[in-house]
Amino acid sequence: MTYSRRNFIKKSSLGAIAASTLSINCQNNLSIPREGIYMGDFSDKPMKKIKAAFIGLNRGGSHLRNFATIENTEVVALCDLYENNVKRELERLYQYSPKTSNVKTYWGDENNWKIMLKEVKPDVVFISTNWNNHAPMAIESMKAGSHAFVEVPLAVTLEEMWDIVNTSEKTQKHCMMLENVNYGRAELMYLNMCRQNVIGELLHGEAAYIHELRWQMMQDEKGTGSWRTLHYRELNGNVYPTHGLGPVAQYMNLSRGDDNFKSLVSFSSPALGRKLYAEKNFSKDHKWNKMEFKNGDLNTSIIKTELGRTVLVQWDETSPRPYTRLNLIQGTQGTLAGYPTRVALEGGFKDITKDHHSWIQGDDLEKLYEKYDHPLYKRLNSKTKKSGHGGMDGIMMYRIVECLHKGLPLDQNVYEGCFWSAVTPLSGKSVQEDGMPQIFPDFTRGEWKKTKPLEIVL
Ligand SMILES: NC(=O)c1ccc[n+]([C@@H]2O[C@H](COP(=O)([O-])OP(=O)(O)OC[C@H]3O[C@@H](n4cnc5c(N)ncnc54)[C@H](O)[C@@H]3O)[C@@H](O)[C@H]2O)c1
Repeated sequence: MTYSRRNFIKKSSLGAIAASTLSINCQNNLSIPREGIYMGDFSDKPMKKIKAAFIGLNRGGSHLRNFATIENTEVVALCDLYENNVKRELERLYQYSPKTSNVKTYWGDENNWKIMLKEVKPDVVFISTNWNNHAPMAIESMKAGSHAFVEVPLAVTLEEMWDIVNTSEKTQKHCMMLENVNYGRAELMYLNMCRQNVIGELLHGEAAYIHELRWQMMQDEKGTGSWRTLHYRELNGNVYPTHGLGPVAQYMNLSRGDDNFKSLVSFSSPALGRKLYAEKNFSKDHKWNKMEFKNGDLNTSIIKTELGRTVLVQWDETSPRPYTRLNLIQGTQGTLAGYPTRVALEGGFKDITKDHHSWIQGDDLEKLYEKYDHPLYKRLNSKTKKSGHGGMDGIMMYRIVECLHKGLPLDQNVYEGCFWSAVTPLSGKSVQEDGMPQIFPDFTRGEWKKTKPLEIVL
């Protein structure tokens, strides 16, 4: 490289830095003062009985059952676009929770949930609808005086995320994204091991949602595929980042005292698989064959944290390969990994491994679980193991209800939901700009430094 070219690159990158500083300030909303209070470790007063309403009753049906079967809870309303979904879930509810009475039901018009909020005034609302409805429903729920619990991702755009943060701070209502994977057995154990410093200083994480879901395109009029497939024409990036990233972010204490999300670069592979699937399975004039599948089959992002740690985040719902969330965390003294669950420790572990050149895995994991299983898993597994996704759904719901009953801060705050979900718009922008780094907005306005790490809940 010649001197002048180097100089040019230096000058143009300075220009880029100046431009991006401008956009960081806008993104950070630094010029807009907080209206309300910081919600990082917010707790409401204890609630004796929690009255809940549910919007969206497919995935929502599982939350409904897990909620209604816990003591001192009451289901006050069910809402879905379709009458048969509401009636099906109401019938089930009466079976598994015979104490139930006076549940108000809403279906039909797409705005009936707003009427529901006014008429029922629930303490909490569980939102399990298509992604574009998450933010508007969460914001209106908080404004109506309810805490909002929202399926993943919390929202789709950075503007929506800021609206959620601002509304939560102003109304002093929780808005928690329902990241159930943080309550998986391996994830809880890894959190416990990280907190006990078993793998030393944390350096790098790997997270993914690699799950072949082309079959959802068969749901072309109704159901998940009917709206999720449309996201392949909206954005080229990672549209479902939080399942893999949530646990890794909590291992690293991101947005909680130690470290935070700083920037991200992202690239996508070509977009081929969905088009091939449409050509093979649908008629020429079917809407999937008229749509442009813009989103690359596999997206790879790398996050850089404030402390300089790295997190690889991958997403692929199209290619023929087995499911993985990677779930890897690497430290100066060892590595914890997923799919399959396996652990390598410097100096080895008991009589199983001598050093870090081999994995503790398979049946040998029992000894590791004996030593490091998370106390929460040990306390709740027998109650929750049939609750869905290997028990993680039930532990998550149990903790939500427990925290609300006792007036404790929730395990995931509104800012974490935003940081984890922000990978979607930031990866989209980075891919569009051929891998240019994107700065994470600081949804906490600097307060992450004072927020306590998630403790090991007993
Ligand atoms: N965490 C997990 O393990 C997990 C698993 C599955 C789905 N999800 C998430 O759950 C959400 C729902 O997914 P799904 O597969 O159940 O989708 P779905 O399309 O099958 O169900 C969504 C439901 O919301 C209802 N709905 C949509 N708009 C509405 C409105 N305006 N008013 C009332 N009801 C409305 C629909 O009628 C539908 O029954 C998504 O965000 C998805 O990402 C998470």
